[in-house]
Amino acid sequence: MSAYETQPAYPSHAEDRAEGPYDDEREFDAAARPAAVEGLGQGGQERLPGTEPQGHMGITGRPMPEFPDPQPLSTHGPARVIAMCNQKGGVGKTTTTINLGAALAELGRKVLLVDFDPQGALSVGLGVRANDLDLTIYNLLVERGHDVHDVIQHTRTTGLDLLPANIDLSAAEVQLVGEVAREMVLARVLRPVLDEYDVVLIDCQPSLGLLTVNALTAAHGVIIPLECEYFAMRGVALLVETIEKVTDRLNPRLEVDGILATMYDGRTLHSREVVASVVDHFRDRVFHTVITRTVKFPDATLAAEPITSYAPGHGAAEAYRQLARELIARGGAA
Ligand SMILES: Nc1ncnc2c1ncn2[C@@H]1O[C@H](COP(=O)(O)OP(=O)(O)OP(=O)(O)O)[C@@H](O)[C@H]1O
Ligand SMILES: [Mg+2]
Repeated sequence: MSAYETQPAYPSHAEDRAEGPYDDEREFDAAARPAAVEGLGQGGQERLPGTEPQGHMGITGRPMPEFPDPQPLSTHGPARVIAMCNQKGGVGKTTTTINLGAALAELGRKVLLVDFDPQGALSVGLGVRANDLDLTIYNLLVERGHDVHDVIQHTRTTGLDLLPANIDLSAAEVQLVGEVAREMVLARVLRPVLDEYDVVLIDCQPSLGLLTVNALTAAHGVIIPLECEYFAMRGVALLVETIEKVTDRLNPRLEVDGILATMYDGRTLHSREVVASVVDHFRDRVFHTVITRTVKFPDATLAAEPITSYAPGHGAAEAYRQLARELIARGGAA
């Protein structure tokens, strides 16, 4: 069958999926799950605030709720800290950090983006030449006596600031291993500015190493972007296990804010099947908002701009605006 052949919107291939190529090798054990990740498995029945069905059928196969424009904020802070996390590479972590951040800033939120990947793609994507900077997040992590305000850069988007990173950060992972409370270093770095922002988004590197554990320890929530491709679910059990460990041992307040399907192509059966499979596993934790695959994203990266200013009228910009409203409706941001 051609992948482009017209299909009913969400065909039920339950038996196929049980052994489908994108099912994880490991079973989710819903019974052994702490509260933070409750509802992630098949057994999760709770309905999250802001997910009451209201409108037409969405891409995720559920009725689409309304996500109204949130109330403007008269004061700012304290920030809710969210880690953008998936150890799989190229799933849209950095793209989502930039564009969700810019969409939240459009809504009047004060947003700090934290580049926590030595590749520095977030910094580059916002037009910051991190290789030329004397101070980056690396210095804050491994040296004493710096003021985080001296490292924060304003971006061209009003309300959107950046803690930049460059390749130096790759050394931090090794240098921090011998530190006392080595998992809590990023939380300490961010503490002085939390009252100045409404949301802090941390762009993690594609690994579950010490830097990512630091991000999860500093965070209140995690967003997991998943690319709508076969094997999207591979490795997700390990990620959930890491989140559970951090919740148990280091950061009991940590919650999974949502699973975000990215690079969706509605013309292909497999994109639709992956979304159906992800909703089967994660239920209400899956954002109703789905990010479609479009060349506008790499174009915006080249222009070093968020999609909301590079192509403000494009559907892709509207998708990230909707994600921002959905996150706020769910209580994931102020
Ligand atoms: N919805 C989309 N449609 C098309 N291309 C996209 C989309 N989202 C991201 N991309 C492109 O895919 C590539 C990978 O995206 P991105 O850098 O955001 O992923 P990542 O998870 O941060 O990757 P890494 O794990 O390497 O940090 C980039 O070139 C980006 O421009
Ligand atoms: Mg990235």
